Amino acid sequence: MDQKALIQAAIDTLPFSYSPYSDFKVAAALLSKEGKVYTGCNIESASYTPSNCAERTAFFKAVSEGVREFEAIAIVGGRKGILDDYCPPCGVCRQVMMEFCSPRDFKVILAKGPDDYKEFTLEEILPLGFGPGNLLVDK
Ligand code: THU
Repeated sequence: MDQKALIQAAIDTLPFSYSPYSDFKVAAALLSKEGKVYTGCNIESASYTPSNCAERTAFFKAVSEGVREFEAIAIVGGRKGILDDYCPPCGVCRQVMMEFCSPRDFKVILAKGPDDYKEFTLEEILPLGFGPGNLLVDK
């Protein structure tokens, strides 16, 4: 699957964003190494703290189905769902990526549209990240 198709999967998920408090809609499409796509949107809560980001929704869907190896994630988002800027993942989501992904290989694609995107490695957006390797535990 190429970047365009992954971005389009994220864009198609944007209408599902449940964000009545911020009105900031975010969606993600996570590509597993097996080639399956797991989508996610942000889900807010009236008590704010339980809110979940789009990226973590996608990861938690995949991991809860037994999938732990990933190639790339495409992320789109903006106020009222208008994609006029790139939407970088928050620090908590970067840390969740660090749990399951190779910092050197995992691609983070920030998109305004299928033809307008920037691509980073996880290492570029989370330098010196702390991960499972630091604890030397088996995953
Ligand atoms: N949000 C995400 O879904 N992903 C990010 O990485 C950044 C922030 C959501 C959380 C909240 O629902 C809204 O955007 C405003 O912060």
